[in-house]
Amino acid sequence: MKFSSEPLDLSDNTFVILRDLIHERTGLFYGVSKQTMLADKLSIRVKELGLESFLDYYYLLKYDQSASVEWQEVINALTVQETYFWREYDQIKVLVEVLLPKYLERFYNLSYPGQPLRIWSAACSTGEEPLTIAIALHEAGWFERIPIEIWASDASSRAIHKAVSGVYRPYSFRGFPESLKAKYFSAHQEEWQISPLIHNRVHWSVNNLLVESDIQYLAQAHFIFCRNVFIYFSEASISKTVNFFYQRMFNPGYLFLSASESLLKLKTNFELQEIDGSFVYAKQKK
Ligand SMILES: C[S@@+](CC[C@H](N)C(=O)[O-])C[C@H]1O[C@@H](n2cnc3c(N)ncnc32)[C@H](O)[C@@H]1O
Repeated sequence: MKFSSEPLDLSDNTFVILRDLIHERTGLFYGVSKQTMLADKLSIRVKELGLESFLDYYYLLKYDQSASVEWQEVINALTVQETYFWREYDQIKVLVEVLLPKYLERFYNLSYPGQPLRIWSAACSTGEEPLTIAIALHEAGWFERIPIEIWASDASSRAIHKAVSGVYRPYSFRGFPESLKAKYFSAHQEEWQISPLIHNRVHWSVNNLLVESDIQYLAQAHFIFCRNVFIYFSEASISKTVNFFYQRMFNPGYLFLSASESLLKLKTNFELQEIDGSFVYAKQKK
């Protein structure tokens, strides 16, 4: 069935309660200047459901038995999946060339004998970030040296579905070395399929950073990459998320945010370190 493309009217009062509910469940924050954008993004879904107003949609999300399914629709409609291979690669270089050797020498053998080293890409979108990490580790020979687990999750089921398929459009490769593309991808019509050798290194799942029970296992990691998601979060949601990371991470543990994100204004126990020109938040042995 076709629905009119006109967005439904979102009154000021309904906007406030709806955006506060979305903020509480997802961390995504819509200020007043984004009222129209929120209406645009959710209108189609409200009409698809045959509802007459955003207030009805609010009640469905808050109280209906089917709400958990509907929340996935909200997340798929609101999230931005922008990502690409080799993005902010300097931090991954620091992981591979500085932090892993340090771990191996100083902590890993002593503190966690036999336990795999865990790297978590916590808002991995369609998978380019964790696959970049896997390629870099493979290139450096790390998988032959110690057991390493790479976990990758995102709140959007649509993004994870694409990540699991492992097929990428040319746009995902801007800045990616051609030699590595030839080595780790095969042409798949107009697109590119990642080699199973790399793809099988990553465990994929749908998890919401704002739901502690969703991420308590994953956050028990030595390295967490949570890049380019806090730009959409309120300060309160960022604090809640990173303080939970801190509580659950191994010690020492390292958190990578993107260059445009910072924890400096927030109250956290992480220590900011600059390593080879990249910033990393460290949970340090005390
Ligand atoms: C711009 S992408 C970043 C992808 C990758 N980390 C990078 O830096 O290229 C942001 C991702 O955050 C995800 N996201 C937004 N809110 C989230 C939440 N509450 N829990 C988990 N993921 C979330 C979105 O679905 C989206 O895929």
